[in-house]
Amino acid sequence: MTTTVHIVGTGTIGEPLIGLFADFGNKMGVDEVTFHKRTPLEADRPRIQHLIKRGAKLAVDSENRSDFSSLGYEVSYEASDAIERATVVIDCTPAGNENKERYYQNISGPKGYLAQGSEFGFGKPYARGVNDEALVPGENRFVQIVSCNTHNITTLIKTLCDDGDSYCLEQGNFVCMRRANDVTQSGGFIPAPSLGAHSDSVFGTHHARDAHYVFETLNQDFDLFSSAVKLNTQYMHSIWFRLAYGRDTSVEEAVQRLRANPRVAVTEKQQTNVVFSFGRDHGYYGRILSQTVVSLPTLAVRRGRELYGFCFTPQDGNSLLSSVAAALWLIDPDRASVSTRLEPLRQWLYQEV
Ligand SMILES: NC(=O)c1ccc[n+]([C@@H]2O[C@H](COP(=O)([O-])OP(=O)(O)OC[C@H]3O[C@@H](n4cnc5c(N)ncnc54)[C@H](OP(=O)(O)O)[C@@H]3O)[C@@H](O)[C@H]2O)c1
Repeated sequence: MTTTVHIVGTGTIGEPLIGLFADFGNKMGVDEVTFHKRTPLEADRPRIQHLIKRGAKLAVDSENRSDFSSLGYEVSYEASDAIERATVVIDCTPAGNENKERYYQNISGPKGYLAQGSEFGFGKPYARGVNDEALVPGENRFVQIVSCNTHNITTLIKTLCDDGDSYCLEQGNFVCMRRANDVTQSGGFIPAPSLGAHSDSVFGTHHARDAHYVFETLNQDFDLFSSAVKLNTQYMHSIWFRLAYGRDTSVEEAVQRLRANPRVAVTEKQQTNVVFSFGRDHGYYGRILSQTVVSLPTLAVRRGRELYGFCFTPQDGNSLLSSVAAALWLIDPDRASVSTRLEPLRQWLYQEV
């Protein structure tokens, strides 16, 4: 039996994910990586050809096959055949829910399907290291990999507030300061900071809402509220946070807990550009895979029970790690074995930046 991972979408998150499976799939028990590109564009040919050269196989919609071929793309499959023959499908488009309705739920071949952050309701929300035990083998065929900022928020709560048999969190507040667009995107840049509306009357923005639903899979019901502001930068997102505890805490306790989590990085840096450039210089596709990078000089405890600080969201590296982990879990749900198969990626899980 050939184990095949099929990735739909070649954008900001799809491309490095195809690269990860092409470069390390054989060490993770994946025999073949196929991927779907929607639009036949001449300008995209160099980066797609590079993925093909590294072993990934291109699938396109039947009506576009001749356009792709005449542009010099080497096409291996038609899209529906690629889904049918895949072991796991990872949707990396802003249309995961639409694709689920139109295609995925009618095709029984794959063991399971993943979609990304924007696709609320696609399946069980998941962040690696936060709610692994909530994934039920044979039951959760559809899994939503939560957004990069949701990874950051849930990892902070899990790391700083999980006391073993209960959480000490009374309330969490977050301001997500988001880059205007990704470095790979030319459109959508803004000339000045742009403030987000609080369109959710309970959670503020989708970031706290999504974090709430991740913890709901662990039977936790947290009081969370988030705000979002888009900044005129292409560097990574940063987050201001306030965690109100039901017991006393200290900066020392927070630092000790952050340092003890292998999926968390800490830093003495306070400038977004230098943390971003660390990823460019020491990451995979310019990304480190840590869930969050917490800036230690910004941590403060007020009145013994409120922890304040800033942290950075390392591009989409955390969503990439969770996407690989969830795909490996769908292939074989033994959790210890997932951990072993993830070994090739651990070199990009930094604990210090
Ligand atoms: N960007 C981030 O940092 C980040 C972080 C975490 C999670 N995410 C999530 O990842 C998902 C994708 O975001 P992205 O930033 O990677 O988007 P993106 O860079 O705009 O890329 C989107 C990709 O999806 C393809 N596509 C769009 N609609 C499609 C459809 N209906 N059918 C098939 N392919 C389609 C596009 O194909 P063509 O270009 O060939 O038309 C493109 O390859 C979203 O759910 C987002 O929330 C993004």
